[in-house]
Amino acid sequence: MSNLANKKKIVIDPITRIEGHLRAEVEVDDNGIVQEAWVSGQLFRGIETILKGRDPRDAGLMAGRICGVCTNSHFRGAITCVEDAYSIEIPKNADIIRDLMAMALFIQDHVVHFYHLHSLDFADVTSALKADAKTATKEAPKYTKNPYRNSVAHYENVLAKLTKFVESGKLGPFANAYWGHCEYRLSPEQNLIIISHYLDALKFQTEISKAVAIFGGKTPHPQSLVVGGVTSVADMLNPQRLNDYLFIMKEAKEFVERAYLADMKLISKVYRGEIKAGIGRANGNFMCVGGYEFEGERRLFCNGVVYGHDFANIEEFDPSKVTEEVDRAWYDENDEICYTDLNEDGTLKTEKNDDKYSWIKAPRYDGKTVETGPLARVLVSYHKGNDLIKSFVDEFLKDTDLDVMDLSTTVGRNAARAIESLYICEYIFKLVSRLIQNIKYYDTDTWAKYDFEKLPKSTKGAAFLEVPRGVLVHLVEVDDAKIKNYSVMAPTTWNATPKNLDGLRGAYEEALIGISVADREKPLEVLRIIHSFDPCLACAVHIIDTKGKELSRYKIKTI
Ligand code: NI
Repeated sequence: MSNLANKKKIVIDPITRIEGHLRAEVEVDDNGIVQEAWVSGQLFRGIETILKGRDPRDAGLMAGRICGVCTNSHFRGAITCVEDAYSIEIPKNADIIRDLMAMALFIQDHVVHFYHLHSLDFADVTSALKADAKTATKEAPKYTKNPYRNSVAHYENVLAKLTKFVESGKLGPFANAYWGHCEYRLSPEQNLIIISHYLDALKFQTEISKAVAIFGGKTPHPQSLVVGGVTSVADMLNPQRLNDYLFIMKEAKEFVERAYLADMKLISKVYRGEIKAGIGRANGNFMCVGGYEFEGERRLFCNGVVYGHDFANIEEFDPSKVTEEVDRAWYDENDEICYTDLNEDGTLKTEKNDDKYSWIKAPRYDGKTVETGPLARVLVSYHKGNDLIKSFVDEFLKDTDLDVMDLSTTVGRNAARAIESLYICEYIFKLVSRLIQNIKYYDTDTWAKYDFEKLPKSTKGAAFLEVPRGVLVHLVEVDDAKIKNYSVMAPTTWNATPKNLDGLRGAYEEALIGISVADREKPLEVLRIIHSFDPCLACAVHIIDTKGKELSRYKIKTI
């Protein structure tokens, strides 16, 4: 990663740690304060084009390939919008199994996001090397009653591993960070605790993937969802499979409670000043579509739309208010590619109000930009009095001496994700009980029978789903029993939207305005804010210009 800097602009490209297709440019004044920001998706997505002319029943398997991380989310999104197009109601068991797969993915995504894609914006490996293992065992209990693997031997083992990494000169995953930056504020022991959880989370990732695969056949890219239900009947009826799933989720809950949430409390304490200053707050517009049946009419997540943090007036989500514009994205009015080159100094063309600067299209809700994701879900559900979520939020706020408004910040966005992980773990156990109840009463249906030949030849369908990173929209139009048009708005599309002719900043851009960048060559503050949204640019990627034209040159520096 390096920074192309002209007089006023700092350019970071790529900005994401693994999926490197996001670029950020910020304009700073003489004091290093960000005055304007542009975020840009740097590769073109082409799955929608591939889907045209295909059998709608195949949409799921192809749409799942939009992303290697959010595979199950797009798989389900596509299947659900096709079911909506044909008004197919799926059996309860199929819905529960889809939810069990989705919930395991929420936990996996959230844990991987924090530890492997974001924690090194807070924790400094070079400082952790100076830690004292015994002192660390006394630090960890300040944030949880029962800290995860909190022993001198464990921390010494981690220190030995880190030292070996450094001595070999191969930092591996710990390369490419701004080590020693003044914005790293954790003590050596606090750094060691978080880095030790980073390593534990690598193992965690393997285990929880198995939970998705139990009902999905495999992961990534599960295969068990079909239009009308699921194919994992044998797994559902096998008590051992259910037990395996529950065992993995119990272990996951331990890690979430004793490591992940505890680390959020630790970071909330150290970065209290930033939280209280509202660093990383966007415009306070939030959108949730809600979902996941809990009991009767109750849902795990409430739906709602809020403007400017006005939680006294939460509107019901209305799908007809969703629009998507391309005026400042590299498409023309017919959705054809319309790429414009960079300026001569390598910066994006953003001078004029209609300059195009991103492959990401511009979704709007009722003409406004909105933030979606765990923070939106937690805040909307909390203010709508969702009792399952409220107690977890209140406990976190009490333990950290923070207010609910403090969650609308960079650190708070991460805290919301950890809080959400914990209540999802609780919800999973209730969901499994419901499944067992159904089976006990001989309800073993997993597929709604239909005759495709007798279904309408022309129809339209939509799916609005809450997935780990936020609201996912899949839209399908069928003509002559083939897909005529397909459109996807991924969570990152909402949060990383470019400005449109309306000039409105999306959540990423808005959150950057007014922050102070201490070192122009090492803009750690910018990385932290963008990473807190959990960008998944892979969801906005897939085909490079077929003429082989270079769309972007990556500047990745390795140590
Ligand atoms: Ni993705």
